[in-house]
Amino acid sequence: MIEAARFREVMASFPSGVVILTAFGDDHQPRGLTVSAFCAVSVDPPLALVCIDKTSNTLPAVQHTGGFTANILAAGREHLARRMATKLSDKFDGIAWHEAEGRIGGPVLDNDSAAYAVCTLRDTIEAGDHWILIGLVTEGRHVEGVTPMVFTRRAYS
Ligand SMILES: Cc1cc2nc3c(=O)[nH]c(=O)nc-3n(C[C@H](O)[C@H](O)[C@H](O)COP(=O)(O)O)c2cc1C
Repeated sequence: MIEAARFREVMASFPSGVVILTAFGDDHQPRGLTVSAFCAVSVDPPLALVCIDKTSNTLPAVQHTGGFTANILAAGREHLARRMATKLSDKFDGIAWHEAEGRIGGPVLDNDSAAYAVCTLRDTIEAGDHWILIGLVTEGRHVEGVTPMVFTRRAYS
């Protein structure tokens, strides 16, 4: 079996976007984390997946919400990607967001996204040290003229 460090090097060579995955805790406070493991699964029905570490503090919020919002970060938001990749409890301080229509999914970021997808949780699959969360995309938008962030080999561009 490939050793963990080499596996990470190999996978880091595959460029991805950067998503801030959000949900609401049982106190109705926003929770979220930075995620690169996000992709489309199906068009009919519209499904997308994310892979979340079992130690993530955001997982209970996703369960509580019964869904999540995938906020696809705009280029130039490295500070937000780094902040959301911490275990701080005040990650959302100073960040503008609103609730999606019908109170489905998690917070939609107002100023930092190139696009977003609001999802209801359809399936949860155990995979090693992560959970694969499959969401049914109920709503989404992209922001014309905003370039998405790209992440590869631990660098943002
Ligand atoms: C660019 C980047 C991509 C990341 N991708 C993932 C990912 O796909 N899945 C994951 O579980 N964690 C990922 N992380 C790590 C989490 O963001 C980090 O562990 C975070 O502190 C978890 O926060 P939480 O425990 O509050 O949910 C990524 C971090 C960065 C900086």
